[in-house]
Amino acid sequence: MADPWKGVSKGAWHLLTPWHFLVTSTPSLELESDMHYRLLGKSGLRVSELALGAMTFGPESGIGVDKDESRRVFDAFREAGGNFIDTANVYSAGTSETYLGEFLGTDRDRIVLATKYTGATRRRDVNAVGNSRKNMMESVHASLRRLKTDYIDLYWVHARDYLTPIEEVMRGLDDLVRQGKVLYVGVSDTPAWVVSQANTLAELRGWSPFIGLQIRYSLVDRTVERELLPMARAFDIGVTPWGILGGGVLTGKYNKDAEAEGRARMRGQVNERALAIGGEVLRVAEELGTTASRVAIAWVRQGPAVIVPLVGARTLAQLEENLGCLELTLSDEQKARLDAASAIEPGFPHDMLSRQSDERRRLIDNHRSWMTP
Ligand SMILES: NC(=O)c1ccc[n+]([C@@H]2O[C@H](COP(=O)([O-])OP(=O)(O)OC[C@H]3O[C@@H](n4cnc5c(N)ncnc54)[C@H](OP(=O)(O)O)[C@@H]3O)[C@@H](O)[C@H]2O)c1
Repeated sequence: MADPWKGVSKGAWHLLTPWHFLVTSTPSLELESDMHYRLLGKSGLRVSELALGAMTFGPESGIGVDKDESRRVFDAFREAGGNFIDTANVYSAGTSETYLGEFLGTDRDRIVLATKYTGATRRRDVNAVGNSRKNMMESVHASLRRLKTDYIDLYWVHARDYLTPIEEVMRGLDDLVRQGKVLYVGVSDTPAWVVSQANTLAELRGWSPFIGLQIRYSLVDRTVERELLPMARAFDIGVTPWGILGGGVLTGKYNKDAEAEGRARMRGQVNERALAIGGEVLRVAEELGTTASRVAIAWVRQGPAVIVPLVGARTLAQLEENLGCLELTLSDEQKARLDAASAIEPGFPHDMLSRQSDERRRLIDNHRSWMTP
């Protein structure tokens, strides 16, 4: 460790600032990869600019892989500088968390570990599912055991159950934060009005607000641009989108081979519209000499909020290809073409408000213009 007193004369010690100790007595970060880091929402938490989705860790769901391939994916993501890992208590019936519990090893504290609760964990038990305090407490303890850790960095409500009062959810999550079992909380698959209500309530009561929002967002599904993305921006909530490759349909493999197999085919996501959008993604990729998956992820990363995409990769080869998105920036022209190919109707009231010709607005230097439709 560097000597903090070096170069300081005996009479001058009282001139030292806390910063002197910080810069001279902490080890250097020595980050060797090209990965950059972002602050997640209204927090000091530093996460890699891509998160690794661990939903395919474990073969139980029929879309995942065994422990050896999961380990290769995990190691390659860490090697690339990734520190943000996302799982859930129900992924591969708990196997995803169990694998991660093994993979984390001595690296645990270097990782921002995120998991979720809500999905059903027992059959014929009405309390082993949903957002309730009972299911939250039981789920967090089971996740901690499987993950072999005593804290979770980011704990997600997996999806809104429409049954539990939002006060119960926010108070329960805040209790977990105060107990040190959870450091931050986030919310996934929930309408914008519920998240707004939850964070306003948390702020008024001094409880921990949601700092992260997990939503489905890709070139084949842009509906979150109507309410959820503007809300995240207004509340300074970090967005970690899933399904950024449309389950695989934006990798171009179904455009190139009408018989190609994969999850998107299995789940009925290969349709005329998706293939048309995939075609434009492929054309942009060919111009840039890169791959369609990289272009599709780059488009999400250039979206209208603080966005940290969840990279889904079943195999090491897929992960290596997808990580290449970090070197890619789409030009305005390429982005505009992809926007046009994937456009959606804004819906009410955005369509009506954007038609209002407001001459006066043009005279105002509005730093909140991103809110304007
Ligand atoms: N909050 C939620 O409700 C929610 C829901 C879903 C996922 N998630 C999270 O988001 C993460 C990613 O989601 P997702 O898996 O749905 O994302 P996705 O990126 O849309 O799809 C990933 C799938 O696409 C295929 N693929 C990926 N890269 C490829 C490549 N380079 N070439 C060819 N095929 C490729 C693979 O499936 P095949 O090889 O089978 O084609 C892979 O499993 C999950 O791991 C999970 O952490 C959250």
